[in-house]
Amino acid sequence: MAVDVVVVGSCMTDLISYVPRLPKPGETLHGNAFKMGFGGKGANQCVAAAKLGASVAMVGKVGDDVFGHNYMKNFEQHQVNCDNMHMSSTSSTGMASISVAEDGANSIVIVAGANLELTEDDIMKAEPIISNCKVLICQLEINQQVTLAALKLAKKHGVFTILNPAPAPSTFNTELLKYTDIVCPNETESEIITSHPITNIDDAIESLHHFFELGCLGTVIITLGAKGCVFRCKSEENHLHVGCTQVSATDTTGAGDAFVGTLAYCLTRGIPLTVEHLSILVRISCDVATVSVQKKGTQDSYPCFDELSLDIQENFKLL
Ligand code: RIB
Ligand code: NA
Repeated sequence: MAVDVVVVGSCMTDLISYVPRLPKPGETLHGNAFKMGFGGKGANQCVAAAKLGASVAMVGKVGDDVFGHNYMKNFEQHQVNCDNMHMSSTSSTGMASISVAEDGANSIVIVAGANLELTEDDIMKAEPIISNCKVLICQLEINQQVTLAALKLAKKHGVFTILNPAPAPSTFNTELLKYTDIVCPNETESEIITSHPITNIDDAIESLHHFFELGCLGTVIITLGAKGCVFRCKSEENHLHVGCTQVSATDTTGAGDAFVGTLAYCLTRGIPLTVEHLSILVRISCDVATVSVQKKGTQDSYPCFDELSLDIQENFKLL
């Protein structure tokens, strides 16, 4: 069975506490609400694309526990192909403890658990579905060498690849970039990978070419939260900054994943990577991410196509 988008990546149960502000070390704070949700950057990106209308498959591993079984039901509800989902009998489902402050900012601790048991062998078993998809997405909440195997396999079959290098380890393997058509970090991940701090949009623009120096194949998009994003294609001289509509954020958790999932969905509809085409893709992805920050949670806050404003729906027709 062929699908548009395959995600090789993580599944986590999100335990989200809403707090007046993020706690200091050693401090105990009263939170004012709690929410449990389906998260993990990989699964979030997969569900974001599915909710817009892409046919998707997930390659990943959960624990053989209540969280893992519930996660499989969640995938079923979103019509995610799970032929290459695995269940570990030795590790528990990944967990994310998340604090969300009143201004929407968050801090996250993940215990990846079963996600780290996904192997290169599991990737090879997924070759039929990966080789027949249009876009493969990876992140870094599973082992880096497994991510590398997935990107290599996709490129072997001429499949378009997106790497969201999140969270970025200090040991980031730049070989990953050689098999990546679009690398899409946020400012923190960009800083860790390029060793160049980003304090403003000019710094971010400067960082774009550091990714090409590190070997990135095609396009670099650096997301900047409420400031939108900057991007550049290797084949073209100019870079662009795309701003976001300003809204008051309720919960920014997983907004970057909404961005990446939307980008993948848009790419399934045609992949001419000109600056003009990319600016439409990036604008739509910012718009969907902006919708998501106005609701609590991650996957729960991602819009279905029909829930988008008519303006945003119209932009999809430009693709
Ligand atoms: O990007 C947001 C996600 O990061 C959360 O859903 C959490 O699970 C962590 O993986
Ligand atoms: Na949200």
